[in-house]
Amino acid sequence: MKIIKAKDYEDMSRKAANIISAQVILKPDCVLGLATGSTPIGAYKQLAAWYEKGDVDFAEVSTYNLDEYRGLSHDDPQSYHYFMRENFFDHINIDLNNTHVPDGSNPDAAAACSEYDKIVAAAGYPDLQLLGIGNNGHIGFNEPDDHFSKGTHCVDLTESTIQANSRLFDSIDDVPRQAYTMGTQTIMYARMILVVANGEVKAQAVHDMCYGPVTPACPASILQLHTNCVVVADEAALSLCE
Ligand code: PGA
Repeated sequence: MKIIKAKDYEDMSRKAANIISAQVILKPDCVLGLATGSTPIGAYKQLAAWYEKGDVDFAEVSTYNLDEYRGLSHDDPQSYHYFMRENFFDHINIDLNNTHVPDGSNPDAAAACSEYDKIVAAAGYPDLQLLGIGNNGHIGFNEPDDHFSKGTHCVDLTESTIQANSRLFDSIDDVPRQAYTMGTQTIMYARMILVVANGEVKAQAVHDMCYGPVTPACPASILQLHTNCVVVADEAALSLCE
Protein backbone atom coordinates (compact mmCIF):
# COMPACT_ATOMS: atom_id res chain seq x y z
CA MET A 1 0.00 0.00 0.00
CA LYS A 2 1.17 3.48 -0.72
CA ILE A 3 0.29 5.90 2.08
CA ILE A 4 0.14 9.60 1.29
CA LYS A 5 -0.07 11.92 4.27
CA ALA A 6 -2.20 15.03 3.90
CA LYS A 7 -2.21 17.99 6.27
CA ASP A 8 -5.95 18.23 6.69
CA TYR A 9 -9.27 17.51 5.00
CA GLU A 10 -8.75 20.08 2.26
CA ASP A 11 -5.29 18.80 1.44
CA MET A 12 -6.57 15.19 1.44
CA SER A 13 -9.41 16.17 -0.90
CA ARG A 14 -7.10 17.96 -3.34
CA LYS A 15 -4.61 15.11 -3.43
CA ALA A 16 -7.39 12.55 -4.02
CA ALA A 17 -8.95 14.74 -6.72
CA ASN A 18 -5.55 15.03 -8.41
CA ILE A 19 -5.25 11.25 -8.60
CA ILE A 20 -8.79 10.86 -9.96
CA SER A 21 -8.35 13.63 -12.52
CA ALA A 22 -5.05 12.07 -13.67
CA GLN A 23 -6.98 8.84 -14.30
CA VAL A 24 -9.64 10.67 -16.33
CA ILE A 25 -7.05 12.61 -18.33
CA LEU A 26 -5.02 9.47 -19.08
CA LYS A 27 -8.12 7.47 -20.08
CA PRO A 28 -11.08 9.73 -20.91
CA ASP A 29 -13.49 6.77 -21.17
CA CYS A 30 -12.37 5.24 -17.89
CA VAL A 31 -14.61 3.40 -15.44
CA LEU A 32 -14.65 4.97 -11.97
CA GLY A 33 -15.91 3.18 -8.89
CA LEU A 34 -17.35 5.85 -6.61
CA ALA A 35 -18.20 6.17 -2.94
CA THR A 36 -20.59 8.21 -0.82
CA GLY A 37 -20.12 9.47 2.75
CA SER A 38 -18.69 12.70 4.11
CA THR A 39 -15.07 11.93 3.25
CA PRO A 40 -15.16 12.10 -0.58
CA ILE A 41 -17.30 15.26 -0.78
CA GLY A 42 -14.28 17.58 -0.84
CA ALA A 43 -12.67 15.61 -3.68
CA TYR A 44 -15.92 15.74 -5.67
CA LYS A 45 -16.09 19.53 -5.12
CA GLN A 46 -12.51 19.93 -6.28
CA LEU A 47 -13.11 17.83 -9.41
CA ALA A 48 -16.22 19.89 -10.21
CA ALA A 49 -14.15 23.09 -9.86
CA TRP A 50 -11.51 21.71 -12.24
CA TYR A 51 -14.25 20.70 -14.66
CA GLU A 52 -15.58 24.29 -14.55
CA LYS A 53 -12.08 25.56 -15.36
CA GLY A 54 -11.87 23.19 -18.32
CA ASP A 55 -9.12 21.04 -16.81
CA VAL A 56 -10.99 17.74 -16.72
CA ASP A 57 -13.75 16.32 -18.90
CA PHE A 58 -16.20 13.61 -17.77
CA ALA A 59 -18.12 13.27 -21.06
CA GLU A 60 -16.95 9.71 -21.68
CA VAL A 61 -16.53 8.52 -18.08
CA SER A 62 -18.80 5.87 -16.62
CA THR A 63 -19.27 5.31 -12.90
CA TYR A 64 -20.35 2.49 -10.59
CA ASN A 65 -21.13 3.30 -6.98
CA LEU A 66 -20.39 0.93 -4.17
CA ASP A 67 -23.69 0.77 -2.39
CA GLU A 68 -27.22 1.98 -1.74
CA TYR A 69 -29.67 1.75 1.13
CA ARG A 70 -32.35 -0.87 0.58
CA GLY A 71 -35.86 0.54 0.38
CA LEU A 72 -35.09 4.13 -0.64
CA SER A 73 -36.32 5.52 -3.96
CA HIS A 74 -33.79 7.21 -6.23
CA ASP A 75 -35.27 10.61 -5.41
CA ASP A 76 -35.16 10.14 -1.65
CA PRO A 77 -32.76 12.83 -0.36
CA GLN A 78 -31.15 10.18 1.88
CA SER A 79 -30.48 7.81 -1.02
CA TYR A 80 -27.03 7.49 -2.52
CA HIS A 81 -28.55 8.07 -5.98
CA TYR A 82 -29.55 11.51 -4.74
CA PHE A 83 -26.24 12.07 -2.92
CA MET A 84 -24.23 11.46 -6.08
CA ARG A 85 -26.28 13.89 -8.15
CA GLU A 86 -26.23 16.55 -5.49
CA ASN A 87 -22.54 16.27 -4.62
CA PHE A 88 -21.01 15.41 -7.98
CA PHE A 89 -22.97 14.46 -11.09
CA ASP A 90 -25.05 17.66 -11.31
CA HIS A 91 -21.84 19.71 -11.31
CA ILE A 92 -19.92 17.98 -14.11
CA ASN A 93 -20.60 16.98 -17.71
CA ILE A 94 -21.11 13.28 -17.06
CA ASP A 95 -23.88 11.52 -19.00
CA LEU A 96 -26.29 10.36 -16.26
CA ASN A 97 -26.99 7.26 -18.35
CA ASN A 98 -23.39 6.26 -17.68
CA THR A 99 -23.76 6.53 -13.90
CA HIS A 100 -24.78 3.48 -11.90
CA VAL A 101 -25.80 2.88 -8.29
CA PRO A 102 -27.31 -0.36 -6.95
CA ASP A 103 -31.10 -0.17 -7.17
CA GLY A 104 -32.20 0.21 -3.56
CA SER A 105 -35.78 0.73 -4.73
CA ASN A 106 -35.94 -2.89 -5.95
CA PRO A 107 -37.23 -4.94 -2.99
CA ASP A 108 -36.03 -8.14 -4.68
CA ALA A 109 -32.53 -8.20 -3.19
CA ALA A 110 -31.30 -11.18 -5.20
CA ALA A 111 -32.39 -9.61 -8.49
CA ALA A 112 -31.06 -6.13 -7.66
CA CYS A 113 -27.68 -7.53 -6.60
CA SER A 114 -27.17 -9.96 -9.47
CA GLU A 115 -28.20 -7.27 -11.97
CA TYR A 116 -25.58 -4.94 -10.50
CA ASP A 117 -22.88 -7.60 -10.64
CA LYS A 118 -23.65 -8.16 -14.29
CA ILE A 119 -23.33 -4.51 -15.27
CA VAL A 120 -20.12 -3.96 -13.26
CA ALA A 121 -18.60 -7.06 -14.88
CA ALA A 122 -19.78 -6.00 -18.35
CA ALA A 123 -18.03 -2.66 -17.82
CA GLY A 124 -14.79 -4.55 -17.14
CA TYR A 125 -14.60 -3.38 -13.48
CA PRO A 126 -13.30 0.03 -12.39
CA ASP A 127 -9.99 1.44 -13.53
CA LEU A 128 -10.01 3.33 -10.25
CA GLN A 129 -12.16 2.60 -7.22
CA LEU A 130 -12.56 5.40 -4.67
CA LEU A 131 -13.24 4.18 -1.12
CA GLY A 132 -14.00 5.70 2.24
CA ILE A 133 -13.49 3.58 5.32
CA GLY A 134 -15.95 3.08 8.17
CA ASN A 135 -14.97 3.63 11.80
CA ASN A 136 -15.24 -0.16 12.09
CA GLY A 137 -13.08 -0.82 9.01
CA HIS A 138 -15.94 -1.43 6.59
CA ILE A 139 -15.55 -0.73 2.86
CA GLY A 140 -18.74 -0.09 0.95
CA PHE A 141 -21.17 -1.67 3.39
CA ASN A 142 -19.02 -4.77 3.82
CA GLU A 143 -19.17 -4.91 7.58
CA PRO A 144 -16.80 -6.82 9.91
CA ASP A 145 -17.63 -10.51 9.58
CA ASP A 146 -16.05 -13.98 9.78
CA HIS A 147 -15.52 -14.15 6.01
CA PHE A 148 -14.86 -11.80 3.10
CA SER A 149 -17.79 -11.18 0.77
CA LYS A 150 -17.68 -11.77 -2.98
CA GLY A 151 -20.28 -10.13 -5.26
CA THR A 152 -23.01 -7.57 -4.66
CA HIS A 153 -25.24 -8.63 -1.78
CA CYS A 154 -27.75 -7.39 0.75
CA VAL A 155 -26.34 -6.65 4.20
CA ASP A 156 -27.72 -5.88 7.63
CA LEU A 157 -25.96 -2.74 8.80
CA THR A 158 -24.16 -2.98 12.12
CA GLU A 159 -25.21 -0.86 15.10
CA SER A 160 -21.93 1.06 14.77
CA THR A 161 -22.69 1.98 11.14
CA ILE A 162 -26.32 2.86 11.91
CA GLN A 163 -25.06 5.06 14.73
CA ALA A 164 -22.38 6.71 12.55
CA ASN A 165 -24.84 7.36 9.69
CA SER A 166 -27.65 8.61 11.93
CA ARG A 167 -26.01 12.06 11.91
CA LEU A 168 -27.35 12.47 8.39
CA PHE A 169 -30.96 11.52 9.29
CA ASP A 170 -33.61 13.29 11.42
CA SER A 171 -33.63 10.39 13.84
CA ILE A 172 -31.75 7.13 14.25
CA ASP A 173 -35.02 5.28 13.61
CA ASP A 174 -35.02 6.68 10.06
CA VAL A 175 -31.68 5.03 9.15
CA PRO A 176 -32.37 2.05 6.88
CA ARG A 177 -31.26 -1.24 8.42
CA GLN A 178 -30.17 -2.87 5.18
CA ALA A 179 -28.18 -1.98 2.10
CA TYR A 180 -27.05 -3.47 -1.21
CA THR A 181 -23.29 -3.33 -1.51
CA MET A 182 -20.64 -4.34 -3.98
CA GLY A 183 -18.75 -7.27 -2.45
CA THR A 184 -15.15 -7.26 -1.32
CA GLN A 185 -14.03 -9.44 -4.21
CA THR A 186 -15.60 -7.04 -6.72
CA ILE A 187 -13.87 -4.11 -5.04
CA MET A 188 -10.55 -5.98 -5.32
CA TYR A 189 -11.05 -6.36 -9.11
CA ALA A 190 -10.51 -2.60 -9.57
CA ARG A 191 -7.15 -1.91 -11.17
CA MET A 192 -6.39 0.86 -8.72
CA ILE A 193 -7.89 1.59 -5.33
CA LEU A 194 -7.83 5.01 -3.71
CA VAL A 195 -8.85 5.14 -0.05
CA VAL A 196 -9.57 8.50 1.57
CA ALA A 197 -9.77 8.99 5.32
CA ASN A 198 -9.72 11.93 7.67
CA GLY A 199 -10.10 12.62 11.35
CA GLU A 200 -9.11 10.92 14.55
CA VAL A 201 -12.30 8.83 14.52
CA LYS A 202 -10.77 6.85 11.62
CA ALA A 203 -7.30 6.40 13.17
CA GLN A 204 -7.84 2.87 14.48
CA ALA A 205 -9.50 1.66 11.28
CA VAL A 206 -6.74 3.20 9.14
CA HIS A 207 -4.07 1.58 11.31
CA ASP A 208 -5.78 -1.83 11.12
CA MET A 209 -6.31 -1.48 7.36
CA CYS A 210 -2.64 -0.74 6.72
CA TYR A 211 -0.80 -2.67 9.44
CA GLY A 212 -3.20 -5.10 11.10
CA PRO A 213 -3.69 -8.73 10.14
CA VAL A 214 -5.59 -9.36 6.91
CA THR A 215 -8.91 -10.41 8.39
CA PRO A 216 -12.63 -10.01 7.62
CA ALA A 217 -12.91 -8.56 11.14
CA CYS A 218 -11.46 -5.45 9.43
CA PRO A 219 -12.75 -5.69 5.83
CA ALA A 220 -10.42 -2.91 4.64
CA SER A 221 -7.39 -5.00 5.65
CA ILE A 222 -7.84 -7.06 2.45
CA LEU A 223 -6.56 -4.01 0.57
CA GLN A 224 -3.05 -4.93 1.79
CA LEU A 225 -3.25 -7.71 -0.84
CA HIS A 226 -4.13 -5.34 -3.68
CA THR A 227 -1.27 -4.57 -6.03
CA ASN A 228 -2.15 -0.91 -6.54
CA CYS A 229 -3.78 0.61 -3.47
CA VAL A 230 -3.16 4.20 -2.45
CA VAL A 231 -4.33 5.64 0.87
CA VAL A 232 -4.64 9.41 1.16
CA ALA A 233 -5.27 10.32 4.78
CA ASP A 234 -4.84 13.36 6.96
CA GLU A 235 -2.53 13.55 9.97
CA ALA A 236 -5.31 12.77 12.44
CA ALA A 237 -6.38 9.62 10.59
CA LEU A 238 -2.73 8.51 10.42
CA SER A 239 -2.01 9.31 14.07
CA LEU A 240 -1.82 5.63 15.11
CA CYS A 241 0.38 4.71 12.13
CA GLU A 242 3.54 6.50 13.31
P1 PGA B 1 -17.75 8.75 5.97
O1 PGA B 1 -18.10 7.24 5.70
O2 PGA B 1 -16.96 9.22 4.80
O3 PGA B 1 -19.07 9.44 6.08
O4 PGA B 1 -16.96 8.79 7.24
C1 PGA B 1 -17.11 6.40 5.23
C2 PGA B 1 -17.66 5.00 5.09
O5 PGA B 1 -18.49 4.62 5.93
O6 PGA B 1 -17.26 4.30 4.16
